[in-house]
Amino acid sequence: MNLEQALSELSLVKDKLQLEEFFQKYLGKKWLLNEEFAKMKEASIEEKKTLGWKLSEIKTKLTEEYSKKESEISINEINEQLKQDIVDISVTGKKYKWWHFSLLTKTRKDLETIAENMWFTVDYGHEVVTKYENFVSVNIPLSHPATEMHDTMYINEKDMTWENLILRTHNSSQQVRDMLKMWAPMKLVCPGKDYRFDDMDAHHDVMFHQMEWIYIDKNVSIANFKECMLTLLSAVLGREVELRFRPCYFPFVEPGFEIDARYDIVDAKTWKAEKSDRMEILWAGMMHPNVLKEWWIDPEVYTGFAFGIGISRLAAVRYGIKDIRYFTNWDLRFVKSF
Ligand code: DAH
Repeated sequence: MNLEQALSELSLVKDKLQLEEFFQKYLGKKWLLNEEFAKMKEASIEEKKTLGWKLSEIKTKLTEEYSKKESEISINEINEQLKQDIVDISVTGKKYKWWHFSLLTKTRKDLETIAENMWFTVDYGHEVVTKYENFVSVNIPLSHPATEMHDTMYINEKDMTWENLILRTHNSSQQVRDMLKMWAPMKLVCPGKDYRFDDMDAHHDVMFHQMEWIYIDKNVSIANFKECMLTLLSAVLGREVELRFRPCYFPFVEPGFEIDARYDIVDAKTWKAEKSDRMEILWAGMMHPNVLKEWWIDPEVYTGFAFGIGISRLAAVRYGIKDIRYFTNWDLRFVKSF
């Protein structure tokens, strides 16, 4: 066995696999060195001394060179790895923009704070309700067209029973549950999602957010309603909005009103403001005696008002947005611009 040759072979080794092969050849169990040791048996004692000396010198040298090569290879490997996953600690960190709630959530939370400041209790209620809660309890007979398939989303198959489960079509459905809990006097707001099988357009979506406000007490009048509504709208909108009141029919109130808003929409490119179409944002009225009687409240003693606000629409007015579908289609360009 030639030490020079072994060392020159070792110098050509480039990776762990070749190193392993080298080890098997020279230093492993079947090593070439072993063969040399086997030859010693036949040698004379004198020869054994010099041969043994020579062989162990070769072995030490080879093992030494081998381990040098081994650490050299693993250092190279680590360096290669490091080159690939560079972490440059001198680079300044990426600045994350502060997250924010979606405009709908923001508007809902602000409305809740305003309501609580006026001593209203917040109750989110249930999204799956019975037809009784959604319709009958608020004076809408089951034969009313609003209960038809095109408006209402059914959980079970549609039938004419009161217990039939549906997705609530308005937050007024929460009135009866809270009435059972609180009775009169009562100050309650119920924010949350509603579902209607509607055609979608800039002002309509199959899922939308509403907030129901109810105030029942002795001597509650339309003046109280107007004051409450104007306080709330000026607090939440904080921008100039043109309001229009219209008389309107709702089975659970008498009289009933509809309130439309017209506001400025600013064009993102030209910065020119243009007036929006009139959009209904609030529906209201004085509690219908039938509804009060349904809860065993004497309409001669107690009166009240109730109104519902479309949160999605209010948010559109608040932020000057043309189309309420922007709120839920999660276009990041839209989300990031607020
Ligand atoms: N619940 C009605 C709807 O979604 C809105 C509404 C109208 C609520 C009049 C009220 C009210 O409280 O007084 O169509």
